Amino acid sequence: MNRRLVEVGAIAKTFYSDWGKVEALKKISFCCSKSEFVSILGPSGCGKTTLLRIIAGLEEPSSGEVLFAGNEIKGPGPERAVVFQEPRLFPWLTVEENASLGISGKKRRSDLEKIVNRTLDLVGLTPFRKAYPHELSGGMAQRAAIARALAFEPEALLLDEPFSALDAQTRTRLQEELMDLWRKTEKTIILVTHDIEEALMLSQRILIMSPSPGTVKETVEVPISYPRRRDSSEFIHLKKYILGRIIS
Ligand SMILES: Nc1ncnc2c1ncn2[C@@H]1O[C@H](COP(=O)(O)OP(=O)(O)OP(=O)(O)O)[C@@H](O)[C@H]1O
Ligand SMILES: [Mg+2]
Repeated sequence: MNRRLVEVGAIAKTFYSDWGKVEALKKISFCCSKSEFVSILGPSGCGKTTLLRIIAGLEEPSSGEVLFAGNEIKGPGPERAVVFQEPRLFPWLTVEENASLGISGKKRRSDLEKIVNRTLDLVGLTPFRKAYPHELSGGMAQRAAIARALAFEPEALLLDEPFSALDAQTRTRLQEELMDLWRKTEKTIILVTHDIEEALMLSQRILIMSPSPGTVKETVEVPISYPRRRDSSEFIHLKKYILGRIIS
């Protein structure tokens, strides 16, 4: 059985704008297996979001191709759900309405209810299902955005710096929750981050990107067993190594 879910084959992306040409991505190739947790790590402007948007089908590569479960990606699809840095909830809809929005009309009412119940439960928002976005904290709003993504019952979750706008304590808690969610659901997760510790706490493999043009400089396997500790010697050792690779 082919366990490769995402296959990125020599993609490039060049943007042309009024101020000139930007080579956002050049010759990027990697694969991601089913149920794998991969992080894409790199400094601002190295093309992380562009790469994730291409996998999401929101952007087309200038050359190369991306396959999902063996098929070329031609646009967005429910099998690839995206969570952005800001939660992007509809302010006039409740948490449960926001969560069910993408799938209402596509599922039977009883199925819809079951899916929304399960996803809200997974992100710990069941008590707040009737709340409106302005009644939520930043962390809760981001959980609601994750619930909306999960409601699609995607095979892969694509996360673009989902916790970077949160305070350190909330970020740590949501990282732990994401870890739980991954273990319970065995979804394939691709996480974009510029936080080395976040990538090291969560992922099995880290793609280190470098800018101008955006390329994958190195792929680092993280052989540390879960749950991981930030103060373990192997964690600290890998963190130093990755930091060195990013700034060199
Ligand atoms: N729509 C666009 N039009 C023109 N240039 C773009 C566009 N989107 C991205 N770029 C350029 O492509 C490069 C990569 O941008 P991208 O947003 O992918 O980086 P990033 O790694 O996600 O950065 P950050 O960590 O700040 O979010 C940047 O130089 C950016 O200016
Ligand atoms: Mg970005």
